[in-house]
Amino acid sequence: MELCSAPGGWTQVLRELDGSLQIVAIDLEPMPPVQGVHFIQGSILDDEIIAKAEELIGNPFDLVLSDCSPKVSGLWDLDVVRQLELAERTFDIAHKVLGPKGKALAKIFQGQGFHEFLQETRKRFNSVKLIKPAASRKTSAEIYLLAIGPRKKAQSKKK
Ligand SMILES: C[S@@+](CC[C@H](N)C(=O)[O-])C[C@H]1O[C@@H](n2cnc3c(N)ncnc32)[C@H](O)[C@@H]1O
Repeated sequence: MELCSAPGGWTQVLRELDGSLQIVAIDLEPMPPVQGVHFIQGSILDDEIIAKAEELIGNPFDLVLSDCSPKVSGLWDLDVVRQLELAERTFDIAHKVLGPKGKALAKIFQGQGFHEFLQETRKRFNSVKLIKPAASRKTSAEIYLLAIGPRKKAQSKKK
C-alpha cells in the first residue's frame, strides 16, 4: 500500500522493481495511471478510503510506503503538527494492515512531538529504525522511519 503517492514517482519505481507486486496507491490529488496499480483518490485520514484499499488487495499487506506532506501553510509549527498527524496515521494504518513480518517506511520531520511519536511506534513494532538517506540534506529535518513487524495483541480465547 502506498500512501500519498501523487504524482507517482515512487509508484513508478515500485512497479519497475517488481512487476508482480499488487499495489494500491492513495492520494488527495489525482495521479496519472501506472500500469497494474490501483489508485484511490482521497484522504488517508478517511477510514472508508483505507477500507476500500483493503478490499481491493486483501489483508495482510507486506509493505506500507508513505511520503506524505501536508499543504504548506507557511506557519512552521502548524506544518509540523500536520506532518506528524500524517505520520501517526501512516503507522496506525500499517499496524492494522501489515502481516507479522510486514514493513512500513515513511518520511517524517523531526519537530515538536517527534520523540513521543518515536517512543509510541517502538512499543507497537518489533523493530524501528531511523534512516537518513545520503541524498537528504544534513540540515533538513526530514528523516525516514522503518518499522517492521506490528505487535498485535493476542486474540482472547473464547471459553
Ligand atoms: C511529496 S508528495 C508525494 C510524492 C510521491 N511520493 C512521488 O514520488 O511522486 C506528498 C503528497 O502527500 C499528499 N497528501 C497530503 N495529505 C494527504 C492526505 N491526508 N491524504 C492523502 N494524500 C495526502 C499530497 O497530495 C502530495 O501529493
